[in-house]
Amino acid sequence: MSFSHVIGFVALLSAGLAQAADPPAPPPPARAIPESATQPPLPPSIPPNSRLEETTNPAQTAAMATPTAKPGDATAGQTKSATCAACHGMDGNPASSQYPKLAGQHESYIARQVEMFKSHKRDSAIMMGFSATLSAQDMNDIGAFFPTKVSLPGVADAKIVARGEALYRGGDKNANVPACMACHGPDGRGNPGAGYPQLAGQYADYVTLKLKDWHDGKTWGDDDRARIMPAVVMGLSDADIAALASYIEGLHAADAGSTAAK
Ligand code: HEC
Ligand code: HEC
Repeated sequence: MSFSHVIGFVALLSAGLAQAADPPAPPPPARAIPESATQPPLPPSIPPNSRLEETTNPAQTAAMATPTAKPGDATAGQTKSATCAACHGMDGNPASSQYPKLAGQHESYIARQVEMFKSHKRDSAIMMGFSATLSAQDMNDIGAFFPTKVSLPGVADAKIVARGEALYRGGDKNANVPACMACHGPDGRGNPGAGYPQLAGQYADYVTLKLKDWHDGKTWGDDDRARIMPAVVMGLSDADIAALASYIEGLHAADAGSTAAK
């Protein structure tokens, strides 16, 4: 996927969001990126129909992942997530940076990832085991619990944070890298309706691992949403990845409480 394709995708998703009823936190308009004014062609893998717009509706996003389950119940989810605490922390803030923070993450994103681990679409020997016995209802309940917790922000490395911030906020046109904040938001809260996860405060070690995986061609999932990040990271160098990861770990969601909605 070329840069213009990614930008076209951003524009398309933003357009979809604009039409969705009452989106929780619309991402900055794609015109933050200069090229978006010219209407680039859609990538062949993404047909120009309404499917992308449909995925911007939170209710439908949840329904897609868990066709028969009810919306998550945070109290039930707290009980069900007891086994997860050993690695991810009781409140979703793990003690070790090799495990991702789940605190403040969106319900639909958590349920989606757990479902992908269970169906082996996202590769992790550890998570495959811990998701194997979870039902769709369990995934929604656990997904509803972690957004009630607040992600504890870390501290960025002062030596590389400037490059990280520049990439996060403005991308790198010459390297075909779009601005991360176009989707993940200026404060890293993401957008649950569109399926853009919260990044604010996430451990740099984990973010580095994921960005490198995508950069090296390791992907997860097989739908349109899962195809975005492998294209985004293509032009990043190792130094860029380290700078971005450090900036993200130090990023504070302006109002983490408002991610608790989903
Ligand atoms: C033994 C440690 C361990 C336990 C226990 C564990 N996890 Fe994980 N989890 C991991 C690791 C490691 C990853 C990162 C996998 C990767 O991407 O390589 C992960 C990733 C995840 C992710 C993806 C996060 C993201 O930001 O994309 C979710 C969601 C998740 N785990 C949920 C759970 C749930 C729910 C449970 C309990 C049912 C659980 N985990 C139990 C180690 C664990
Ligand atoms: C066009 C929108 C878009 C842009 C631009 C974008 N992302 Fe993403 N990002 C996504 C989506 C969608 C996902 C979740 C994919 C899924 O659910 O399969 C994601 C997931 C991630 C994750 C995994 C989070 C987790 O908890 O595991 C990281 C890390 C990430 N993005 C970092 C970045 C960085 C760094 C940039 C800028 C260089 C960026 N993203 C630009 C849409 C975007």
